[in-house]
Amino acid sequence: MHIKSAEFITSAVKSSQYPPPDLPEVAFVGRSNVGKSSMINCLVQRKSLVKTSQTPGKTQLVNFFLVNGCMRFVDLPGYGYAKVPKSVQQQWGPMIETYISQRPNLCGLFLLMDIRRDAREEEGQILQWLMEKKLPVRLVLTKADKFSRSAAQNRFKILLEQTGLEKDDLLLFSSVTRQGRDEVWSLVSSMTGI
Ligand code: GTP
Ligand code: MG
Repeated sequence: MHIKSAEFITSAVKSSQYPPPDLPEVAFVGRSNVGKSSMINCLVQRKSLVKTSQTPGKTQLVNFFLVNGCMRFVDLPGYGYAKVPKSVQQQWGPMIETYISQRPNLCGLFLLMDIRRDAREEEGQILQWLMEKKLPVRLVLTKADKFSRSAAQNRFKILLEQTGLEKDDLLLFSSVTRQGRDEVWSLVSSMTGI
């Protein structure tokens, strides 16, 4: 995909603050610090369109980005970071669930997991919401550059078993080496029809 433009549109806490549902949207969700914001920057080839941080809990709202004027990428808040105040953490589940379950123009979703971590309850919960909505989802194993090729393949197999997904539902990704970037773009194209 040739990136002509990528711009931040708005941040939302509740659905009344979302932009009108007039363009196809693809969303990125996952535990805090897995690399959601970095992945969006890598996909649109912009170093800092989306703010990233070494400190987990950077993205605390539903953020909308317009790509090439024809689709939106949605960066969802990262869940599961204990150091964020409880009151904030408690808002994240509903914020993510509301977006996933109510957004009519959501075409597909990437669920990100750090390749070094095991799948937990939250990942199972999100996969279940998506299956209920019959939305296409791909599990992205991020930070693949942290491992050798064979060790990354090994983790791929372990996470395949843990999640019970099919082989085609998982992919390896790295914002550092750009591994998986083309594959993700072709998935975005098939999800959005663009
Ligand atoms: P929250 O907004 O807190 O939920 O985090 P996030 O999922 O948006 O993660 P973010 O993109 O901010 O990245 C978190 C940290 O991981 C940063 O220090 C990034 O530089 C690093 N990181 C992200 N992707 C990669 C990757 O593919 N490889 C490596 N080695 N580091 C990465
Ligand atoms: Mg983020």
